This record gives sequence, structure tokens and C-alpha cells, in this order.
Amino acid sequence: MILLQVHITQGDLVGRAVIVSWVTEDEPGSNAVRYWSENSKHKKLATGKVVTYRYFNYTSGFIHHTTIRNLKYNTKYYYEVGLEHTTRQFWFTTPPEIGPDVPYTFGVMGDLGQTFDSNRTLSHYQLNSTKGQTMLFVGDLSYADDYPNHDNVRWDTWGRFAERSAAYQPWIWTVGNHELDFAPEIGENKPFKPFSHRYRTPYKASQSTSPFCYHYMEGETMRVMFESWFVKYKVDVVFAGHVHAYERSERVSNIAYNIVNGICAPVKDQAAPVYITIGDGGNIEGLATKYTEPQPGYSAFREASFGHAIFDIKNRTHAHYSWHRNQDGDVVKSDSLWFFNRVWKPVDDST
Ligand SMILES: [Fe+2]
Repeated sequence: MILLQVHITQGDLVGRAVIVSWVTEDEPGSNAVRYWSENSKHKKLATGKVVTYRYFNYTSGFIHHTTIRNLKYNTKYYYEVGLEHTTRQFWFTTPPEIGPDVPYTFGVMGDLGQTFDSNRTLSHYQLNSTKGQTMLFVGDLSYADDYPNHDNVRWDTWGRFAERSAAYQPWIWTVGNHELDFAPEIGENKPFKPFSHRYRTPYKASQSTSPFCYHYMEGETMRVMFESWFVKYKVDVVFAGHVHAYERSERVSNIAYNIVNGICAPVKDQAAPVYITIGDGGNIEGLATKYTEPQPGYSAFREASFGHAIFDIKNRTHAHYSWHRNQDGDVVKSDSLWFFNRVWKPVDDST
């Protein structure tokens, strides 16, 4: 039995559950996960579900999803999958209990794909001296849909590629357009079919009815839908992918614009989020090198290079943010700044 593509994600709202997923070939094998905390010899078992799917001429392996619950905060756990066959062991650390001054460090990545550049991005993230504890992945995983008939073997190779990080820390998934795999011309009419079989989100914990967190349009339609909420609720930062480049905005808002009144220039607004485009993981489609010229006033920093970001929350007032280009060494921060929380410390943090 071959057991590959191990990955974990958050399993509840508060950080006391983890969903473990993996794929076996040839036979399903056990869907149980054996787990124990670092300081305990008492091993526990959790059982889950196995799913398979077909996509055009492709048949998936046996895709396992098992949720481990009632974990302790801030604790290292070991876990084993493939019990009774080819057992493989991994580990993760649960987050601390939620609180306004609890520090936590997120990696941020998007549009990763599976090229040499993707590999450099992931390695660079893993070598970063500021260790991300959970990955916020902003969509576009495998780019299988760029291959003939959405070659789903590419979903398998991507799962194997991401394992070296995603088996050891939760990756929080957002879907992008490349997760749609909607191809009626080959009889595939169910959107998100490969993604939704392979990746789990704890959507029921937030009483959502949909496992997806996405908006199927881009640019202006999203701005009209969301911007006034962002400003009203003083959102600190918005991360997005899709465009294959890096850009960080000043705190600006455009909420006075109603499409017909002509007030369409963004204005400085300290209640507005910083918008960060981090779709520079490095996929088969390459970099988006064309920006609006000259650089608009709302754009604080932009560069068409591959890389990843770290969002390092210190307490209720401060977070340190940095962007790391692949061509730089592990400790170089190509773009970095302190974020001051809009509610607790709304001082001007524009650059
Ligand atoms: Fe993309």
C-alpha cells in the first residue's frame, strides 16, 4: 500500500481539533489516526471517512479524512497514519488558547502551482527564520486545469509536493478559480469536484452551509460587495491571490464611489485595510509583469517576483508583516512594516 499526500488543516473554530487527510493507492487501508501528545505515552485513535472520485478518465486513490478532537492547546502531538500497513509518522503543534494578546505567526502564500519556482517558494518559507505556525493559503493550488482534460494526476503530484509542510502545520484553504475544474466539454459539470474531495475546511464549526470561502468575480465587483464592510469594521489587512505578482496598498478607501457619481479616486482612510496581493507562489502561468503606469498613489510597494509573506501577530496592538522574495536569502525582508491594529492602536502606519 502506498500512502502519500498527507496534509492537515484546522478542525474547529478554536484550535482544539485537526483534520488529517491522506491518500492511499491500491487499497483503502485503515482510516484511523493514532495520536499522542509529546509528554504522554497514552495513544489514542480517531477514525474518519474514505472517499474516491472519478474525473473524466481519471480515478482517484482512496482519500482519507479523519478529525482529531479535544486536543490540548499549545501542545506538540505526534500522529501516525497507514496503521497496520506502511505506517508513517508526523507531528504538529496546536495553537495557544484564543485571546486578544496571544501571539501567533501565519505564513501567507497563493497561486503556488508545482514548478521549480513553486519549489523555491515553499523551501524559502520553510527556511524562514520567522517560523510560520499555520499557512493562510489564498487559493490556486495545483493548476491541474492547465493540463489536457484537467489531468488530475497533477492534483496528486501537488499533494505530494505540499506534504513536507502541510503534514506538519495546518494549511487553511481558500479556493481560487483554478479549483473550479468545471469542464462540461468533457462531462465534468460539478464545480470544485477534485478540490472538495481532497481538501477539508471546518465550515460547519462556523455554522456555514458551504465548505468554500470564495467569491467568483474579481476586482471591482468584489470591491463593491465588501469594501464598505471592511472600512466599517476596521479590518486591518486583506490578503488576496490570483494576480501573479506582489503588491501592497496604502490604507485607502473608495466607498464614496457609487459607480455613477464620478468620485472614483481612492482617498487616504485610516479605517481602511491594507490590501496585499500575494499571488506570487510561482506557477506554470508565470509572473504578471504589467502594472498600471505610473504607480498609482494607493500602491505602496509592488514587484513582479515570486515569494511568500509572514504575518506575525504580537499582541492586540502590533503585528509585524514581511514579504520574502525567492531571489533573496532567508533573512532578507524585501518589504516589511509594523501593523497597528485599527481598533486598539489606530495610528497612521502608512509607509
Ligand atoms: Fe492564479
